Amino acid sequence: MAGELRHRGGEAAGSGGEGGADAPAAAKAKVGGGEGKEEVEVEEGRKEALGWLEWSRGWMGVVGEFFFQRIAASHLANPLELPPLDGVSVVVTGATSGIGLEIARQLAQAGAHVVMAVRRPKVAHDLIQKWQNEKPECSMPLNVEVMELDLISLDSVAKFADAWNARMAPLHVLINNAGIFSIGEPQRFSKDGYEEHMQVNHLAPALLAMLLLPSLLRGSPSRIVNVNSVMHTIGFVDAEDMNITSGKHKYRSWLGYSNSKLAQVKFSSIFHKRMPAEAGVNIVCASPGIVHTNVARDLPKIILAAYHFIPYFIFDPQEGSRSTLFAASDPQVPEYCETLKSEDWPVCACINYDCNPMNASEEAHNLETSHLVWEKTLEMIGLPPDALEKLIAGEPVQCRYGQHKAE
Ligand SMILES: NC(=O)c1ccc[n+]([C@@H]2O[C@H](COP(=O)([O-])OP(=O)(O)OC[C@H]3O[C@@H](n4cnc5c(N)ncnc54)[C@H](OP(=O)(O)O)[C@@H]3O)[C@@H](O)[C@H]2O)c1
Repeated sequence: MAGELRHRGGEAAGSGGEGGADAPAAAKAKVGGGEGKEEVEVEEGRKEALGWLEWSRGWMGVVGEFFFQRIAASHLANPLELPPLDGVSVVVTGATSGIGLEIARQLAQAGAHVVMAVRRPKVAHDLIQKWQNEKPECSMPLNVEVMELDLISLDSVAKFADAWNARMAPLHVLINNAGIFSIGEPQRFSKDGYEEHMQVNHLAPALLAMLLLPSLLRGSPSRIVNVNSVMHTIGFVDAEDMNITSGKHKYRSWLGYSNSKLAQVKFSSIFHKRMPAEAGVNIVCASPGIVHTNVARDLPKIILAAYHFIPYFIFDPQEGSRSTLFAASDPQVPEYCETLKSEDWPVCACINYDCNPMNASEEAHNLETSHLVWEKTLEMIGLPPDALEKLIAGEPVQCRYGQHKAE
């Protein structure tokens, strides 16, 4: 079983402190003011990229995770032992493959009502059938259903949220697992006009979490768990260039991926800060480790073949699902989130592949730029700047996508 969650109270991964050692000393401007919003000071003459030291530390973290994850997580049971989850409703995105498939299967087997939110419903129905067949005949049928969701379309996200909210049922856990890493592929944009990694890995999950808030509030205490990655440590998000089109940075697929994961940590951190403790909705980022799944489907065939020769180092999906399952179900997690909130910690709860607290990157600790990412994300997903406060107050919020009106 996993150990005890303790806030280390230290600094960012190998960092020199909040704001980043490489942040330039410069004049400050205020952002984020207005009704119900915190005003924060933002550095002008902003940092344009990660400093070489942060970047090297980030890559060392990635390599270190590869070599040492199995040793660091050796105390964990496999599969992770879950508490009984009868009566708990969970939405799992991307439940047709890899880590998401394992998460959905194990949660369902622990008694949860699982909604597989997927772009290929037929595959999900086949999986449910397979899981049912594997169960002893005398046991209760699994409580799993399928709903269509394609994160490459923000309209699809809004429609999914509408359909769920219309049930007026509580939602206890949202697991934003689905993601893409189009390794080596050229830069692509969604029909909504956003770089695909940013849309699928950050913008669409952010919209889903916001629009499902009425149901999550109904299910309070509830959780939003984002499946993140150690790769966020080599990301750098410029809120004015979320699509990496300004020419300041040359697009590379690993940069698109790591920026989207860092944007998710930053957005989640402000979400966590703004969510009043009484609302009882906690937001957590979980890192699964380096896992053998279909996420690397775009790698050259020779490298894919090499994956099969290094099984000792790479987790299988069951091992890779443990941190997310822990974040979604362990009773210590809400208390841990509250501790971070009361200490005004700049980053939301982050759980590592070994089910211990994860040190998010130094850049993730930069609260000023996190506020900018929060504001830009809301603008990009078509929500007003005060959407969170309105949704918490039970007021209607207009979304540009799906003609959505959440209440
Ligand atoms: N594997 C790793 O080493 C690793 C490391 C760190 C973080 N992660 C993160 O873990 C999460 C799960 O990835 P995985 O490794 O399990 O990869 P995977 O096997 O490729 O699974 C990804 C899932 O996301 C779904 N998905 C992709 N695009 C989608 C879209 N537009 N709309 C809806 N669903 C979509 C896929 O659906 P289809 O089945 O229809 O393709 C699939 O079910 C991702 O967020 C990934 O970034 C993975």
